[in-house]
Amino acid sequence: MLAVLSGEKVYVNQPKKLAVANEKGGVGKTATTTGLASAIAELGLDVLVVDMDPQGNATSGLGLDVTDDMLTTYDLMRATVRGRAAEAIQATPWEHVDVIPASKNLSDTQADGANDLIFRLDIAFEGVDLSAYALVLIDCPPTLGKLLYAPLCAADGVIVVAEPTIDGVRGVSDIEETIANVKRRANPRLELTTIVISRARHNGEHDFRAGELRAAYGDTVARTVIPDYATRQDAHSAHTPIHQMRGGKSIALQVAYSDLLAEITETTSEGASA
Ligand SMILES: Nc1ncnc2c1ncn2[C@@H]1O[C@H](COP(=O)(O)OP(=O)(O)O)[C@@H](O)[C@H]1O
Ligand SMILES: [Mg+2]
Repeated sequence: MLAVLSGEKVYVNQPKKLAVANEKGGVGKTATTTGLASAIAELGLDVLVVDMDPQGNATSGLGLDVTDDMLTTYDLMRATVRGRAAEAIQATPWEHVDVIPASKNLSDTQADGANDLIFRLDIAFEGVDLSAYALVLIDCPPTLGKLLYAPLCAADGVIVVAEPTIDGVRGVSDIEETIANVKRRANPRLELTTIVISRARHNGEHDFRAGELRAAYGDTVARTVIPDYATRQDAHSAHTPIHQMRGGKSIALQVAYSDLLAEITETTSEGASA
C-alpha cells in the first residue's frame, strides 16, 4: 500500500526484516532461515530471503543457480543505490519464496573502506514496497565484520541462532553486545527478537547449556528448540523445503520450524504499530 507524505512515497504495511545471525559458522543460521521460509510458504504466504553470506548457502539451498545477469547482494553493497534491492529479487524453485542471491565476490566488500558501507543494504531497500511479503529474512555470514553490520543496520530485529554448547552460550553474549552497539549508535529500531536453540540433542551437556541460556535470557529464548536430525541436512542437499520432505524425522522438523515461526510472529507483532 502506498501513501504520499509531503511529496515522498511512503509504503505502509511493510513486513519486518529479521537478520538471522551468529558470529560463529555451522550453528544452523542458514538452516533456520530456509526452515522458516519453508514454514511461511506452507501457510501460503510469500517470503523474501536476503543472502548476505558470500558462501551463498541459502541461495543454493533454495535451488537457485546464480547467473551473470542477476544482481546479487554484492551489487547492493558495492555502491550506494537507493531502492536497488527491488531489481535484485529473484523467484526461486520454492513456491512463495523469493531471494536476493549471494555471490562469492560479496566477500570483497569486507575490504571496501567507504564511509557508508554498513548503511548500503538499508539504503538499497529504501523506497522498496515489500508489502507482498509476510517477512524478510536476512541470512548473515559467520563474521563480526561489515557483512554482519550491514544487515544489522537494515533489520528491525535479530534471530540469534545458538547451539547449546559452552561456545554457543558465549557466542550469544558476543552477538548481544554487537546488537546493543548497533542499536545505540546506528539503528535504534533494532531488537534482539528471539534466541533459537538449534541442533539440539538430548544429552547432559546440551540440556545444561540450554538451561543456562534460558536462565540468562528468559523469554527471549524461543520455547521451540530445533532438534539435530539428519533429515535437515538431506533437505538442504536436495534443495527441498523441509515441509515437502517425507520420512525420517521430517515431521518433527516441520513442526519445529512452524512453531518457531508462530513464536516469532507473536513476538514481532507485540507492540507493533501500523
Ligand atoms: N537441525 C539440524 N539438524 C541436523 N543438521 C543440521 C541442522 N541445522 C543445520 N544442520 C546442518 O549443519 C550444517 C551447518 O548448518 P548451517 O545452517 O549451514 O549453519 P550456518 O549457516 O550457521 O553456518 C549444515 O550441514 C546443515 O545442513
Ligand atoms: Mg550459513
